Amino acid sequence: MSKKLFAFVIGGTGMLESVCHWLTEEGYDVYVVHRDRTKFEAMRLRGKHPDKLYSVAVDYHDDEALQIKLQEIIKIKGNCPDLIVSWIHNSAPNALPTILKEVSKRKEPWKLIHVQGSSSFFVKENTSVPEPCEYRRVYLGFVLDNENSRWLTHEEIANGVIKVIKQDYRETVIGTLKPWNKRPS
Ligand SMILES: NC(=O)c1ccc[n+]([C@@H]2O[C@H](COP(=O)([O-])OP(=O)(O)OC[C@H]3O[C@@H](n4cnc5c(N)ncnc54)[C@H](OP(=O)(O)O)[C@@H]3O)[C@@H](O)[C@H]2O)c1
Repeated sequence: MSKKLFAFVIGGTGMLESVCHWLTEEGYDVYVVHRDRTKFEAMRLRGKHPDKLYSVAVDYHDDEALQIKLQEIIKIKGNCPDLIVSWIHNSAPNALPTILKEVSKRKEPWKLIHVQGSSSFFVKENTSVPEPCEYRRVYLGFVLDNENSRWLTHEEIANGVIKVIKQDYRETVIGTLKPWNKRPS
């Protein structure tokens, strides 16, 4: 019997909701990090496969709690995630390294979709990942329509991330980041 694919998603009750639903349709069990259980439950029930969406209730600023949650999931699944989709605010710089440390036990290839805000594009930080990790970086841009600009909608972000997963793009900007002085205020 083939092994069941599993994904770990941070941001899945927000801008990455449609990514979680799409992943369940692609056959993944999806573990969704969140703090607000009501929001998670509402999101879960909006999907076609609510039984494939699992709650990971933890504040990602709490490194130890995050590590323990991930260890528990890895124990239940008998393996590390096949895919991680990460949207983590800059206020939690230790969260992704904490996750990566746990997943470094995995020897087979796996994929990290690292979603970052516009300003990260100009910093180009070097994210250190374990050897078998296929690292994919996604920058969130904005939409420029003639002289007007606006930030991306959740749907635009989720569709962009789904495209990155499907097409396996290495580095992507959803929307645009140029000209930077035209970004929305
Ligand atoms: N172009 C850009 O650079 C850019 C950058 C950032 C944002 N944006 C825009 O800003 C909007 C809002 O972004 P957002 O990140 O606030 O919203 P979001 O994606 O709607 O929500 C954040 C997600 O992360 C989870 N989360 C947040 N803090 C957490 C924590 N401490 N521990 C665990 N989970 C946590 C939330 O769950 P809980 O609510 O349950 O905690 C939720 O799933 C987006 O619609 C996007 O368009 C644009």
